[in-house]
Formats: sequence, C-alpha cells, structure tokens
Amino acid sequence: MALIPFDDRDGWIWFDGRFVPWREAKIHILTHALHYGSAVFEGERMYDGRVFALSEHTERLFASATMLDFAIPFQQAEIDQACTETCARNGLPDCYVRPIAWRGAEQLSVSARETRIHTAIAVWEWPKYFDEAKFARGIRLCWAQYRRPPANAAPTGAKAVGLYMICTVSKNIAERTGFDDALMLDSDGNIAETTGANVFFVRDGAIHTPVADCFLDGITRRTVIGLARASGVTVTERKIAPAELPTFSECFVTGTAAEVTPVGEIAGQTFTPGELTFRLAEVYGALVRKPQQPSPTARATELAGVDA
Ligand SMILES: Cc1ncc(COP(=O)(O)O)c(C=O)c1O
Repeated sequence: MALIPFDDRDGWIWFDGRFVPWREAKIHILTHALHYGSAVFEGERMYDGRVFALSEHTERLFASATMLDFAIPFQQAEIDQACTETCARNGLPDCYVRPIAWRGAEQLSVSARETRIHTAIAVWEWPKYFDEAKFARGIRLCWAQYRRPPANAAPTGAKAVGLYMICTVSKNIAERTGFDDALMLDSDGNIAETTGANVFFVRDGAIHTPVADCFLDGITRRTVIGLARASGVTVTERKIAPAELPTFSECFVTGTAAEVTPVGEIAGQTFTPGELTFRLAEVYGALVRKPQQPSPTARATELAGVDA
C-alpha cells in the first residue's frame, strides 16, 4: 500500500488556537524543537466520537511540558475541547489524535527561555497498529539496540520527542530483520517496554509487568491493570529479568495505538496467546467504546463489575 505523506493530505489541523488547512500547518526550519528535541506530544484514540481517557492524556501532555521546563499556553480544558473539535472538523468519529507542543524559532541555542510555545493537534485514520493476521498468533519481538535511560539520566516520565530517537532506531532494525518490534531493557538489564507500548507477562493465571520507573506509565497500562485486578487477576509490578522469559506462558503489549496486542515471540522464546490475553483485549475493546466515567481505572472497575 502506498504511503500518503503526512504533509500532503486533506483536512484541518488545530494550530495555536485556530484551524488551518492541513497542508498549511508548517513551522520554520530553525524551530528550536527540530534542533534540540524540545517538544512533547500525546497519542490518543477517538472511538465512536469520544476520545478515550481524554483528560488523562491532556494532563500527561501538560506534565510532560513541565518536565521539559515549559508551559503550554492553553488551559487543559481548551486542549480537551480542541482535540474533540479537530476530530469533528475532519469528519472522523474513529481516529488517532496527536496533540503536540514545542518551542518555536525565537531563539536557537541550548538556552531556550525566549522561545514561544506552540501547540497543534492533528487527527487521522489509523485502524490497528499491528495487522489483524498477526493478532491471533502474536507479534514477534527482538531485543532492542538501545536500553531505556534511567530516571536520573532523562525525563523518562515525559512523552518527549527526544526519548523516541532510540525507539525509532531500535524499531527500524527490528523491522529490517523480520520482527514487528523491539523489546527494550532498562539500564540494569531488566525488561522495560517496547518502542511504543508497555509489556505484560502471564504465569499461572497471574500477571507480571515491569515497574514503570524509567519509561512511560501508559494510560492503557494502568487501564489494563485496573481491568485485570477488577476481575480478580493478581497483577504484580516488579523488576523482571530476561532470564525469566521461559517461565511465562503468555505475553502481551498495551498502548493507545497497540491497544492489547498478543506477543508470540521474544527473540526465539515463544509464547502462545491465551485466554487471559484475549479476554483483556476484548474487555479493553469494549471499555474504550463505553460512555466514560471519571478515570480509566474507575471505568475498568465499573465494567468488570457489570460484565463479571
Ligand atoms: C514508549 C511508549 N511506551 C508506552 C506507551 C503506552 O502509553 P499509552 O498507553 O498511554 O498510550 C507508548 C504509547 O504512547 C509509548 O510510546
């Protein structure tokens, strides 16, 4: 399938408070963010006309900006509304939503205090992150080229563009060598996450997942933990060494884009996607299309109660 370049599409992009035609949403080549990575973003999904966990995503966007030492010049409620309006303006009730905030071109040096902060929101159709055929047997992961930096070496809790440099390199190598994605270790050699999703393992009906101390504590991750616990499944967040892989029966990844995706292999170690993974994928799929409660965990608890 031919790729449609992202700068040559029809539609509208919300840019610093107003809608501009898609192809006119441009920035200057000397924009600080392009040179120094001073940008933060979000990845959200609208299902049936509602963005799942919208306020949690907006809150994380603002928290990420604070971690990069800048403030987004809008209220969170304004960004929430702009996300929803951008989907409507583009006529997309089911789509991916990409808010981004970045430092402008007023100053181009490591020092950036004089830069203006810009904000934009683009939305586009994006069905499944990994193709349907792979879902049943699970995706294949290899080990990533790079490790996640520790929390004292980078703002690891931020969804900051600079942290994706090592993800892109690792994912490109994975795809080039026939895998779907790469699994990254932390700086101590424990399992961290993939290049764009959190990872979970199943052993004897219980779930184990790495503690999110040097990578994004995904909103999907927290939602799935809530769903599992609400249905009586034990979830343990802890350090997980690669040597433990043979002791797990199932593995899956979670993320706004990935949703709940089974893993069939990690660098030669195979897993059989099973009942727990498919059940969580189904319950998560139902949850994101339900009218929403105050928080993902509250929604998870409510749904588990209703459907148990
Ligand atoms: C590196 C990384 N980790 C984890 C996640 C999952 O986060 P969320 O569930 O909030 O989408 C993402 C997706 O945005 C990601 O890019």
